[in-house]
Amino acid sequence: MRVLSLVNQKGGCGKTTVAIHLGAALAAKGQRVLVVDLDPQAHATLGLGQDAQRSTSVLDVLADGVGIADLLIDVPGGMQLLPANLRLAEFEETSARMIRPESVLRRALSDVADQFDYALLDCPPRADGILTSNALCASSLAVLVVEAGVFSLQGALKTIGLLRDTAGNQGSSFDLRLLCTLLEPKGRVGPEVLIALQQRFGPELFETAICACEELREAPLRGQPVPLFAPNSRSDLEFASLAREVLGLELRLGRSLEQSPTLPTPASSGLESIDGVAATLGSVLGAEIGTHLARLEAREKG
Ligand SMILES: Nc1ncnc2c1ncn2[C@@H]1O[C@H](COP(=O)(O)OP(=O)(O)OP(=O)(O)O)[C@@H](O)[C@H]1O
Ligand SMILES: [Mg+2]
Repeated sequence: MRVLSLVNQKGGCGKTTVAIHLGAALAAKGQRVLVVDLDPQAHATLGLGQDAQRSTSVLDVLADGVGIADLLIDVPGGMQLLPANLRLAEFEETSARMIRPESVLRRALSDVADQFDYALLDCPPRADGILTSNALCASSLAVLVVEAGVFSLQGALKTIGLLRDTAGNQGSSFDLRLLCTLLEPKGRVGPEVLIALQQRFGPELFETAICACEELREAPLRGQPVPLFAPNSRSDLEFASLAREVLGLELRLGRSLEQSPTLPTPASSGLESIDGVAATLGSVLGAEIGTHLARLEAREKG
């Protein structure tokens, strides 16, 4: 079983949408997929049409040692879900009394490793914290989900720094890839951000980018992944393409499991500062975006 976590310190960049739809796309290719909702907001649980007020959840696995197999639910898209409920936030406090609390999920997942090809862990919008630490400790790949917006580049670099700290502190070994989402391909900023990501991260960036589209916005309302109500739509095809890339990573991932983390160094990209971002994006947008960023920065400071 390959374990992938969807991470970013930033909220609302599409982590849950990717967990659900990459999962559905892998399942459509015959893979046995487990989605683990590790977010106390329980959005993956809700987005797959399940009740977030439920009494049992991944919290029972983390805090009380209940086996994962006892809690699995069949969900739309041909996947199984280990759900969250709103009480999951309690684990932050419970974990303070545990020894190596970040390794609980890894041990629990090993019990179902023969039942699944992929486990996708939907993380809360924190790169630190005990829930994301559990995800990273269990993962062979962390997918940093980056929205194609102006401040996303800085956010991504900050998150990579936090991921590196977590990996170092807990001695975990996982590979890192970035995925660009919420891309407005006809806008001016989105394509520029995508180019900047390609320049900075090269092969660590998935070639597939996920565009912003109405059907992905609608999916959580329906409690179903897109292929069930809009087959062959743009996002259906994009996630199929992403799934092919993920399947292609398998051999390399297999090797990298034994290696130390390959997290890129944020130094020297020029994207750490607001000026760096403006300069990188400035090739097409010119002074316009630089002025806008300077105004925003001044407002933040003032
Ligand atoms: N590619 C997309 N096109 C259109 N809407 C999208 C897309 N990706 C995500 N969304 C919508 O944006 C919102 C935020 O997405 P999502 O919940 O996946 O982000 P998240 O990173 O998991 O957020 P959080 O950090 O709060 O967990 C949701 O309403 C979702 O439906
Ligand atoms: Mg989410």
